[in-house]
Amino acid sequence: MTEEALLASVDPAGPAPEDGELRQYYFIRKMQEFTQNRERVLGRKMTACVVTFGCQMNARDSEKLSGILSLCGFAMQDKEDVDFVIYNTCTVRDNADQHLYGRLGQYHHLIREDRSRKAAICGCMMQEKTAVEKIRQSYSFVSLIFGTYNLYCFPEYLYRIYHGEKHVIELWDRSDTIAEDMPVRRKFPWKSGINIMFGCDNFCSYCIVPYVRGREKSRDPEDILREVERLAADGVVEVMLLGQNVNSYGKNLDTPVSFAQLLDAVCKVPSIRRVRFMTPHPKDFSEDLIEVIRRNPNAARHIHLPLQSGSDRILRAMNRHYTKEQFLALARHIREEIPDAALTTDIIVGFPGETAADVDETIDVVRKVSFDNAYTFIYSMRSGTPAARMEQVPEEEKKRNFERLLQTVQETARKQTLLLQGKTYPALIEEENDQVKGFVTGRLSNNMIVHMPGDASLIGKFCMVRLDDCRGFYYFGSNLGLA
Ligand code: SAH
Ligand code: SF4
Ligand code: F3S
Repeated sequence: MTEEALLASVDPAGPAPEDGELRQYYFIRKMQEFTQNRERVLGRKMTACVVTFGCQMNARDSEKLSGILSLCGFAMQDKEDVDFVIYNTCTVRDNADQHLYGRLGQYHHLIREDRSRKAAICGCMMQEKTAVEKIRQSYSFVSLIFGTYNLYCFPEYLYRIYHGEKHVIELWDRSDTIAEDMPVRRKFPWKSGINIMFGCDNFCSYCIVPYVRGREKSRDPEDILREVERLAADGVVEVMLLGQNVNSYGKNLDTPVSFAQLLDAVCKVPSIRRVRFMTPHPKDFSEDLIEVIRRNPNAARHIHLPLQSGSDRILRAMNRHYTKEQFLALARHIREEIPDAALTTDIIVGFPGETAADVDETIDVVRKVSFDNAYTFIYSMRSGTPAARMEQVPEEEKKRNFERLLQTVQETARKQTLLLQGKTYPALIEEENDQVKGFVTGRLSNNMIVHMPGDASLIGKFCMVRLDDCRGFYYFGSNLGLA
């Protein structure tokens, strides 16, 4: 059902429906009444802001938060000096947690300036009891806390904090509901993330995600395809299919479907010109998937394949279910089958027990695969994970190894970038260049960034661009016109 139909089907004068999405649409109607009344008093619309930390999945969740807030009658803004702010948190590494505390510290003076302001926190970090306790004690101005499983109940919680409850803290430890019809407001008119599954069952020994996002649940392929079709009709040209391990998509559905089948179907939706996905796990990257990417020119020429470590011993301790040789064989195979695809990766340095020799193995893989780009992270201990109980590597040693790895990663990325010198590709224009006037910034299918002459009217459109001037990890190019 559409938003309008759902809104029309609830009666704000009557009792709230028992549960499900209708109950939330009922509270959206209630909030609409509330914000309209406030607007009359204030002489302006109430304002709200969503601050996002973390991965693409959180970014997508934030679009749902924005959707709910907009429909409730708030005017959305980018800055935090608004009537209502919500922080959507990440806790994958400790610096994500620290980031939130820093922002809350800064936000405090905005509340002092205007006591009618309200703040809320949701997302992965709120699934951790110690973090919630700390916020209750040190940041008591926060009115609303909820987690990852009950995001769709946001309208109801919002209603409660605006109708007398000083603090609302609602934390669930699981959910089987996938709310399909909640409102969404995309940040970009021309591209969108799409959740294809939630949660993760892999339990890599360093990782908190399975504990804060719960067990794997796949959405029905029909629902996903309907969403893609709707997005296409609404002007979206690039989609990114999102899941913690997209390769396990569909295994637990009543009628099992593979990720390769889903990707193939999404690539065939008319007017979707680019399909990305994030993240596949190397342990179950199928031959079918390689074939589907190869056959579909609109499947992005970019495969993000998280390595984490190149040492068999460490990979085993990480519970990654592949060896160095298996990873190398897969990467080689992808390079052969889809030669124009960029291969990027994630690597962790300083996992418990990791020695310089282990890092040498990782560096060896980086050289052999010649990654086009890599995100390198210093291991961060997450309490409750198996790795937190293992013997930790001293900070100094982690930093030394990290520097060595970073150098190698930059070498291969530069080398790969240079290979494209002089070639011409379609680029999807994403924004005006804020450094060079009269230039826009676009992205190639392989995820590389290129700057070229152009203006804001090109945003969301494809231009052919010749890659003239390599600047390390990106290019300046000639704009050869719309593609
Ligand atoms: N499901 C995805 C992404 C998970 S989080 C995947 O498996 O690739 C993104 C990246 O953060 C991971 O790939 C990993 O490199 C890094 N990461 C996760 N936990 C970490 C930790 N405790 N310390 C440092 N990096 C971590
Ligand atoms: Fe974390 Fe591993 Fe799941 Fe990725 S696959 S989210 S690294 S447990
Ligand atoms: Fe962070 Fe949660 Fe994503 S912990 S990386 S926001 S799934």
